[in-house]
Amino acid sequence: MINLSVNITSGEYSYPIYIDNEDISSLKDKVLSCLRGSKFLVVISEKVYRLYGQTLGFAKENIFVLKDGEKEKNFNNYKKILERALKMQLTRKDALIAIGGGVAGDLTGFAASTYMRGIDFIQIPTTLLACVDSSVGGKTGIDTDFGKNLVGTFYQPKAVFINTNFLKSLDDRQFKTGLGEVVKYAFIEKSCKCEDYNLTNFLNDNTDKIINRDAKVLKELVKICVSLKISVVEKDEKEGGLRRILNFGHTYGHAIEKITKYKKYTHGEAVVEGMRYAFKLAVQKGLIDKNYEFYAQDIFKKFNFEKLPSFNNDKMIEIMKLDKKASSDKITFVLPVDYSTVEIFEFTVPELMELSVGKVS
Ligand code: GLY
Repeated sequence: MINLSVNITSGEYSYPIYIDNEDISSLKDKVLSCLRGSKFLVVISEKVYRLYGQTLGFAKENIFVLKDGEKEKNFNNYKKILERALKMQLTRKDALIAIGGGVAGDLTGFAASTYMRGIDFIQIPTTLLACVDSSVGGKTGIDTDFGKNLVGTFYQPKAVFINTNFLKSLDDRQFKTGLGEVVKYAFIEKSCKCEDYNLTNFLNDNTDKIINRDAKVLKELVKICVSLKISVVEKDEKEGGLRRILNFGHTYGHAIEKITKYKKYTHGEAVVEGMRYAFKLAVQKGLIDKNYEFYAQDIFKKFNFEKLPSFNNDKMIEIMKLDKKASSDKITFVLPVDYSTVEIFEFTVPELMELSVGKVS
């Protein structure tokens, strides 16, 4: 078992992240041993419950089954979880446990952060995306009609239990969306101010094993990505500075998700396209040479990320202007400046138009 820890110095708070591929039936005892109180509510994604409910072995009265899909990350389910917790008379010493992907984790985390002004929260991520990104770092939230994640909190879990056996049952597209975030870490690694893992080499050396979900390789891959994320979050919990580098590929990626109504492409597919856009902008701005862009394209190709069709540039810029991360009149981009190194840049709309119109699809 790999045991990492997150030390948030600003809040003098620390919590463990366990990564293993032991039998899933051993999870329940491990989780229960870290609870302070005697009561808990498990919010579990429907698919995970169907596949692993029996193996996990939690009693029915402790279970809240959450339907699958981003649209479930809503006020109504937030309310239902809180009402269930109130009915069970959970106290501040008790816990909410999320088992599933980002939807279960973000929603349950938000409920935990507001129930009695904060109750213990345990994350058990079961998708690659949740393992390497959303379960670590304390972002919680729900979606509203006005946009995704517009209501939420920073609330660190008490512990994260990652078991890579869950990744075996993901469908290919779900697995690939996680790979989009994995590849992102390779391009930002040196800016994470962490020890040198050389994730790019790891990806190049183990491409087939990763695609074929080799358990040992996946465990190592998740460890590297989580370590990079921990390094960033420890230095900037609330995204005041350094943490913004985790948004590499996300400015344009979020706009793709929005323009296609969150239906056509997965988050990872959109983020990879967003990284392609960032590479092009960086070349046009003279930050990197074309060779690095070709090198990046090679990596995307190796992991079977196809180039997406072009989007209307004016509409995309309009959407990016409204992104919650955009400042009043500027659009923020994380751009590559060297191998595995990124920096934050801000563009006015005319600047972006001049760089991108007709040149960047
Ligand atoms: N998903 C990016 C972050 O946690 O900051």
